Parts: sequence; structure tokens; C-alpha cells
Amino acid sequence: MEAAQSIILDLGTSSVRCGFSGEDLPRSIFPSKLPKEKEGREVMKLLGRMEGIDGKVESVDVGGKEVGLGEVMERGEIKNWELLTPLLEHTFTTHLDLATDALSHPILISEPPLASKESREKLTEIMFEVFKVQGVCFCNSSVLSLFASGRTRGMVVECGSGKTNVVPVFEGFSLPHAILNLPAAGQDVTEYLQKNIQDKLGYNVVKDMKHSLANCKPVTGPNSIRSKVEYSLPDGTPIQIDGVYTSAACDLLFNPDEYGIDNVDGGIGEMVGKCMEMVDKDVRQDMERNVVMAGGATMIDGFTERLNEEILKSEGLERLKDEWQKQNIGERIGELPGTNLNVIPNKTCREPGYNSQRKHAAWIGGSIMASLDTFQSIQITKQDYEDSGASGEYKKLVHRKAVV
Ligand SMILES: Nc1ncnc2c1ncn2[C@@H]1O[C@H](COP(=O)(O)OP(=O)(O)OP(=O)(O)O)[C@@H](O)[C@H]1O
Ligand SMILES: [Mg+2]
Repeated sequence: MEAAQSIILDLGTSSVRCGFSGEDLPRSIFPSKLPKEKEGREVMKLLGRMEGIDGKVESVDVGGKEVGLGEVMERGEIKNWELLTPLLEHTFTTHLDLATDALSHPILISEPPLASKESREKLTEIMFEVFKVQGVCFCNSSVLSLFASGRTRGMVVECGSGKTNVVPVFEGFSLPHAILNLPAAGQDVTEYLQKNIQDKLGYNVVKDMKHSLANCKPVTGPNSIRSKVEYSLPDGTPIQIDGVYTSAACDLLFNPDEYGIDNVDGGIGEMVGKCMEMVDKDVRQDMERNVVMAGGATMIDGFTERLNEEILKSEGLERLKDEWQKQNIGERIGELPGTNLNVIPNKTCREPGYNSQRKHAAWIGGSIMASLDTFQSIQITKQDYEDSGASGEYKKLVHRKAVV
């Protein structure tokens, strides 16, 4: 491996994705949780074979053994800083095969949109003080996801495990005044299924069931699923599930208030409509033509089709149309809002490579970003950090250089 390669780290609510710049996919994806007891590396390795663990899961069955878990992340934010250092050490040694006393690499870290400055500063300190990296760079995960789809302009809908963000991006930077957030995502879909299906099933089984049965069909009306659906447990035993739950579990992302989730901006479709209203009219067409999905929960069956419908009937878009019609009496400004809506992936225009990989989009965008010549200019180097000494001057630099 060349010394110039950078480490790319995406710390998600359910999974850590890690690897090296220039590579197509993360080298490793594993849960962002740690066994509570120090049961040794064997358990960590077994845990590493699971892709991610959603939400508040206190224990999982790992190779026939029940393992208690400590959470590092909560809804995209680092929640337990004490557990973070061991998790990072595990990432670098077990998953990237690096010696952690001095990492001879720079690191690119993807962070959630509107990440706290305090968290960025603390992570910088840990990276330089504990792991002695060569440089640190922070990038907004939605900007990176858009980048992975080959774009620098568009509206990213990032729906992972712990949170959903709608982020307008123009020329590689987000427009922070118009970023909207919903505190619900894939973990809430899993939890809904776990609570509502009659048979009490373990976490791993429910998650597998979600991946094969959850869908974004409407909960009522002619296109809803009204019959029972069959699912085979890992031992082959068939069970019957009320079909409506497989749709309702995902409906909570589109109608959160009906499921007890408070969000002033409504569900994902409404959020996109509002975001369209909030961006400058000069960039709205770019946003409308490039509504790009990212994150694991957007893989749920029918997600993009449902989102497309929800945006077209959103109040935000209706208000924009009214406004457009009023203004159009005098002067015509672009096309009627909604005319060119393109939610990506769109079945009619294939995006080679991106569609199936969109759950890794933030990581892939990081890998591309760190391979560019300009990467040097957006990182704070070990030298910058050391020169800053006790003055804390590096803090200003780290925020100034972050791609947010
Ligand atoms: N094929 C699939 N079908 C349905 N859901 C899926 C699929 N693949 C992954 N998911 C869900 O996506 C979620 C994980 O997404 P992702 O890995 O993007 O989240 P994260 O990066 O860990 O969290 P976050 O970005 O929210 O902090 C889980 O809820 C998982 O069950
Ligand atoms: Mg993520």
C-alpha cells in the first residue's frame, strides 16, 4: 500500500465503514457498537461479520452466544466518547490491519450534516493525540453521497439507520439554511416491525424480515397489502404476518406524526417540498432534477417511487406552484415546479454503479474526494496541529477547512 493513501471513515448509527481512498468499496463494514464485557477479540471478530446493528439493541446472538452491547452512536451523533477510542482502535487494527501507535496516513471522516463543532474538535484531538494520524479532514456525508453519484449539485435524501436528512447541495457545498432533519430512519422501521408482529423474534430475524418484506406501499387504498404474508424463520418454520405492518413500518418515514414521531417539517416527501421552497429560485431546477437517494433505508422496496409521489403532492411544492403561477402572469420563471422532478435512482435512467451501492454512498464519495489533488488543501495536517500547540488555533482551521 502506498503511503499516500488516506483512511476513509464513515461512523454511522448502525455501522462503521472503513477503507482506503481510491478503492471502490469499504474494506470493512461492522456494527458501531462494542461488547460491554471485555470478551476479547474473538467476539469482536464475530460481531464484525454482521453488517450493522440498528438502534437500541442491548444484546445480540453472536455465534450462539448472547453478547451485551454498548452503543457508541445515537441518531448520527457520537454519544459515548469513552467507547469511541476502543471502537476506533478496533477499526484500525482488526479491520484495516494497521498498527495504531502512529498511523502514517491522513484520515477523511464523514460527519452528519450540521455536525456540532465540539464533536469535530474532539475527534480531531483524538486522531492526532491518540492515533497520531498525518492529517484530518471532515466532510458532510450528504455532500459525499452526492459526489458518489457523480454530481456536485442536487438535493440529497440521506436515510440511514438513525436519521434522515434532506440536504440541498450546490457546487459541492450544502446550503445549510435549507437542511431539514427527521429523527427517524431504518432503525425505527425495524423497531416498528419488532413491536407489532405477534411472534416475538430476535433482532437478527426481524432485520432479515425487514430486508425481504418491508415495502413503501400505501397503508390504505386499492394498492395496499391487505392479506397476510408468509415469512420463513431461519429454521424453516413458516409464519404469517399481517401484510399491513410491512407497509406501515415504512409509512412512518412519510407520515411520522401518525406514529408518534414529532417533526415540524413532516415526513420525507414534505421535507423535500419545503426544502425546494427554501432554496433560491435560481438553483431550484437543479435540485428538482437531481433528488438523490443515499443510505441503507432507501433500499427498502418502492422507496423512490413512494417519495416521488409524496413530493408531487407535498404542500411545499403546491405553494411553489401557486407562487409560480402568480409570477408567471408578468414574467415566466422556468418551468412549473414539479415538471422535471427526477428522483434518483429512477428506473427509466440507469445510473451505472450508483444504485446498488447507495447505502455506501457517503463512504464512496469520501474515497473519491480523498483521491483528488485538492484533498491536501482541505485537511489539517499534523504540522498545523503541532504548530497550534496549546493555543487551540487548530480549531479555527479545522472548521474553516471542513467540507460542510
Ligand atoms: N436491502 C435493504 N432493504 C431494506 N433496508 C436496508 C437494506 N440494506 C440496509 N437497510 C437498512 O439500512 C439501515 C442502515 O443504513 P446505513 O448503513 O446507511 O446507516 P448508518 O450509516 O449506520 O446510519 P446513519 O447514517 O443514519 O448514521 C438499517 O436500518 C438497515 O436495516
Ligand atoms: Mg450513514
